[in-house]
Amino acid sequence: MISTHAPVSDVDIFSDEVLTDPYSAYEDLRGLGTAVYLSRHDCWALPRYAQVRAALGHHGRFSSVGSVGLEPALNERRSGGVLASDPPEHDVLRGVLSESLAPRALARLRTDIGRRAEDLVAPLVERGTFDVVRDLARVFPVSVVADLVGMPLAAREEVLRFADAFFNTFGPLNDRTKESLPVADALFDRLTTMMSRDNLEPGGWGEAVYRAADQGVIGEHQVVPLLRAYLVASMDTTINAIGSGLWLLAERPEAWQALREDRSLVPLVFEEILRYESPVQMFFRRTTCPVEYEEAVIPEQARVALLFGSANRDPGKWTDPERFKLDRAPMDHVGFGYGVHGCAGQGLARIEAQAIFSALLDRVDRVELAGSPRRHLNNVIRGLDSLPVTVTTRRV
Ligand code: HEM
Repeated sequence: MISTHAPVSDVDIFSDEVLTDPYSAYEDLRGLGTAVYLSRHDCWALPRYAQVRAALGHHGRFSSVGSVGLEPALNERRSGGVLASDPPEHDVLRGVLSESLAPRALARLRTDIGRRAEDLVAPLVERGTFDVVRDLARVFPVSVVADLVGMPLAAREEVLRFADAFFNTFGPLNDRTKESLPVADALFDRLTTMMSRDNLEPGGWGEAVYRAADQGVIGEHQVVPLLRAYLVASMDTTINAIGSGLWLLAERPEAWQALREDRSLVPLVFEEILRYESPVQMFFRRTTCPVEYEEAVIPEQARVALLFGSANRDPGKWTDPERFKLDRAPMDHVGFGYGVHGCAGQGLARIEAQAIFSALLDRVDRVELAGSPRRHLNNVIRGLDSLPVTVTTRRV
């Protein structure tokens, strides 16, 4: 039941039009209220920063079990995984991932990841013109994470197709999801086989997850969902942070120059990229009790879209949110989520992206678009299919 005066919108936030440019729809939703009923999807949306952050911080009221995607039937596929569980089960799974993703463990990887970024970037810069998405952003996270997990070579090709399809299934049963389901199903089985104990390289994160099962920390049935969490969560997210970031910088030569002159800005600018073009635009939750807002009460057991992309552009939180600002330092953006499910891999994502930006900044005076960027539409992920650029290594 919807409260009588609850704000209602019939916008389809998964339509091609809105996915291509969601920001005016977000502005409308923020204007309607703190909690808006989306009649087309029979779901509530939280479009403003304060409520998104509060919901992320209150897993007792906003559960992830069977509800991190919109469609109940599709949520079953995610059940038992770290993203789709609540404490205390969640904390055990998260503890296993955290061993590999903790700052101390990551500190040891920084130099190696920096070197890999240089090896990838140097020949592209030499070429002068390349596609940021195809040649750089889609190559780097797969090779870094696959090696860390100890994934067989044959599986790497499949991971990207799987991740894109899997993320689509967080949305409604629209054409994008329907087309993705067979792809996700076929690859799900292939990846499960390829991630079997015998197929993983010794010494990697994958082996550590199997060890946790051997020690009885987690059940054997939880191994593959955890391995999938490493793989799916780390791909399109990081890829699109790098792609969108380089597009923003290619369009702002003065920003590129400022970064060339002061590398200490790189980490902060990466956070501004995540605020401005959040790779994960939304995830979902289910209310465990009625939740009261200014104009509406979201009933118990309702589906709720947490609109990260909208929260990160909320003028109630950010000054001049539609401007990409180098000196904003928006450390409390919700691009990585927040609370118990706050991104487990954010440390690694930062190291990867900063390594790529630094390798380019070391070599390149100017980045210019060499054609029109092409957007890739996914139900919950915002990013690009193609970003052709030309780089200049000496000022002309
Ligand atoms: C820029 C890149 C990335 C972005 C924008 C991003 C974004 C997010 C967001 C928004 C969540 C919160 C989900 C929720 O609240 O339901 C999340 C969770 C998660 N991320 Fe990331 N992520 C990125 C990179 C990575 C990487 C590189 C890894 C792994 C190596 C990773 C692993 C995870 C895992 C395992 C979770 C689930 C945590 C939990 O449920 O406790 N992510 N990520």
